[in-house]
Amino acid sequence: MSAEAAELAARFRRVRAQTEALIEPLTPEDCQLQSMPDVSPPKWHLAHTTWFFETFVLAPFQPAFAPFHPRFGYLFNSYYEAAGPRHARPRRGLLSRPTLGEVLEYRRAIDARTLDLLGSVEGAHRAEVERRVQLGLHHEQQHQELLLMDIKHAFFQNPLFPAYRPRAPEPAAAPSPLGWVEVEGGLVEIGHAGEGFSFDNETPRHRVFLEPFELADRLVTNAEWQAFVADGGYQDPKYWLSDGWHWVNTEGVRAPLYWVEQDGLQSSAAGFEEFTLGGLLPLEPDAPVVHVSLYEADAFARWAGARLPTEAEWEHAARGAPVEGNTLDAWAPAPRPRHRRGPAPDSTATPGP
Ligand SMILES: [Fe+2]
Repeated sequence: MSAEAAELAARFRRVRAQTEALIEPLTPEDCQLQSMPDVSPPKWHLAHTTWFFETFVLAPFQPAFAPFHPRFGYLFNSYYEAAGPRHARPRRGLLSRPTLGEVLEYRRAIDARTLDLLGSVEGAHRAEVERRVQLGLHHEQQHQELLLMDIKHAFFQNPLFPAYRPRAPEPAAAPSPLGWVEVEGGLVEIGHAGEGFSFDNETPRHRVFLEPFELADRLVTNAEWQAFVADGGYQDPKYWLSDGWHWVNTEGVRAPLYWVEQDGLQSSAAGFEEFTLGGLLPLEPDAPVVHVSLYEADAFARWAGARLPTEAEWEHAARGAPVEGNTLDAWAPAPRPRHRRGPAPDSTATPGP
C-alpha cells in the first residue's frame, strides 16, 4: 500500500470511529428519535453514512460485490435519485428495525470491506476509489455535525431537557468591544483553487467585483441579541423580510430557537436560559448567538443599522485567515466567546479514538 493509501485508510478509521464516539452518550432509545421531518435519528445517520461507502465505493469497485442486506439501500438512501427509490424522510423514526446493534454490525462489515478494497485496488480504478472514499469521509463529517444538531433538537422536545454531555455553567464576562475591519474590495477571485478536496458547489473559481465594505471583527453576542429582543425586534415588521415576518407570526417566534424564557427566576441573568448540548444553562451574555435563521440574522442586522455580508464579501474577507477556533476535535460543539482563551470547559471529554 502506498503512503497516501495508508494515510487515507488511517483517516477512514479515524472518521468512522469518531461518528461512533458521538453516540456513546446516547441510549438505543435516544438513537431512535426523530423530532421533525428535517431531523434524522442518530441510528439513521450511522447507517446512511455506511450506505454511502457501500453504494458508491464497494458496489462499483469491489469484485463479486453483494449487498450487506438487500433492502438497506431502500432504507438508507437519502435523496440520491440515481441510487433508486427510498424510504420517506419524515418516517425514518419509525424504523425500529434494524436495531442499533444491527446497524453497528453493518458499519463493521462495510468498514472491513472498504479497507480491504483500499488496500488491494490497483490500476485505473485506484484513483477513483480513493477520490470516492475521500468524498465519503467529508460526507460523514457533515453527518457528524447533523447528528449533534439533530439530537439537540430531539432532546429539546423533552420537558426534562436532557443533557447530551452535561457541563457546568460558565461565569459571565464582558464581551470584547465590537470593531470593524475595512476591506478594499475590487475585482477578486472566489471559489476553490488548487488540488485539495472541495465539494462541487465550491467550483469553478471565478471573479466578482466588490465595492469597499466593512465587516464586524467578531460574532454577535447573546447580550447584543437580547437587546434586539428587548427592543421589540421580533414584533416590528420594519426589520423583517416579508417571508420572515410571516414565519415569525405563524410560528410565534419571539427569540432564538433554544432560548427558554424564565421570567422571574434569578438563575437567569436577564430572563432567558439556553438549551445546549450540555443541558439547560443560564444564557451566556458574551457567547456568540447561535441557531438563528437567515430571516432573524437579516432582521437583527437591519435593527443594528448594518446588513449581512454577501457570500462573496465573506469569502473574500475570510480568505487567508488562520483556521482556528473551537471545533469538534476540541469537543466544543458551540462557538465560544472570542476573548476566552484555553480549552473549552469539557474538553477533557474529547470524543474520538
Ligand atoms: Fe448524506
